[in-house]
Amino acid sequence: MTQNIKISPSILSADFSNLGEEIKRLDKAGADLIHIDVMDGHFVPNITFGPVIIKQIRKYTKLPFDVHLMISPVEKYIKDFSDAGADIITVHPEATDDLKRTVDKIKSFGKKAGVSLNPKTSITALLNVIDKIDLILIMSVNPGFAGQIFISDVLPKVKELRKIINDKKLNIDLEIDGGINFETGALALKAGANILVSGTTLFSGGSLQENINKLRNCG
Ligand code: DX5
Ligand code: ZN
Repeated sequence: MTQNIKISPSILSADFSNLGEEIKRLDKAGADLIHIDVMDGHFVPNITFGPVIIKQIRKYTKLPFDVHLMISPVEKYIKDFSDAGADIITVHPEATDDLKRTVDKIKSFGKKAGVSLNPKTSITALLNVIDKIDLILIMSVNPGFAGQIFISDVLPKVKELRKIINDKKLNIDLEIDGGINFETGALALKAGANILVSGTTLFSGGSLQENINKLRNCG
């Protein structure tokens, strides 16, 4: 694919004791977005952080904050994440009783809206909002933890969504998240993704800039 490929590093693998500097380092290294994984220990079996932390790190970069909410029920927290400085707010269909209303709420704060599909969640879960959203986040692991193995079964879903987006000429970014490395990244790009999230691979040593460049060009 010759799309404009973007890299959204997940700060889940960053040094949490020095998060401000880590954000600055990602900015300098050429990240396009900052992927921020919010987990509540209920929707997913892990807890990370909330809007207070996001507000604190907001001042370290002007890059868009790509906020992935793995919390349920999600809707009552949208305003808090919006106020904290999120630019894209992504929710899971299972985390709301009315996805359309939740998407409208995100848009009402002037933010980009994303919908994320777990490996087992089918495309039909988002079809009723596809004309309203700005981003689709395909989970290529079961959400909850960094460092998991890429589930290649999700690739047909990426392909199908790319076709729908292109056929309908929709202005939607197709992002993939979980187990992305230089090999699986290439598969995801080939299937039609245009944003790669990566934590473990980017932060696993060596130069952040080289790792980001290598991932951007892995296809
Ligand atoms: C998983 C998160 C991912 C994760 C990616 O629930 O949504 O963003 O941090 O980490 P890696 O790249 O290590 O799979
Ligand atoms: Zn994520």
